[in-house]
Amino acid sequence: MATLPILIAPDPLLKRKAQPVERVDEHVRKLMEDMLETMYAAPGIGLAAPQVGVLDRIIVVDVADKGEPPAPLRLANPEILWFSEELAQSNEGCLSLPEHYADVVRPRAVRVRYLDETGESREIEADGLLATCLQHEIDHLDGVLFVDHLSMLKRNMIMRKLQKQKKVNA
Ligand code: NI
Repeated sequence: MATLPILIAPDPLLKRKAQPVERVDEHVRKLMEDMLETMYAAPGIGLAAPQVGVLDRIIVVDVADKGEPPAPLRLANPEILWFSEELAQSNEGCLSLPEHYADVVRPRAVRVRYLDETGESREIEADGLLATCLQHEIDHLDGVLFVDHLSMLKRNMIMRKLQKQKKVNA
């Protein structure tokens, strides 16, 4: 396993649409493991392949509380089949937008179909933090960042700060 560099916004790769994987093979499994290691090291609770520069529809998440055993999920080609009409607001952050957080409103619950690490088709129904995290990561596969759900004013404020920070670090 290896940790991978995480792309920081603004980056054109974070705005691109990722493509479905044809099948879950060794290459995909290796990427899933490297993404999990990268996510745990960051630390974070979710990571999408475009954040490590790979435009494949692959995400990993683990929303287990600190002190609980890890509960990693590896999802290829995740698709939201259903979402609740009821909405919920939560404070989101993103490893590609370090140190920026904002309240985002999304459906409170979702049902997601995906291929697991063995290539088996599965469905998961989630609410709360897991539902938020799955929607946030699936957004990444379509080039959507959590700031895209905010007002233009708030989004521009965060993106300008990130741009400035990039120049400082360059
Ligand atoms: Ni993110």
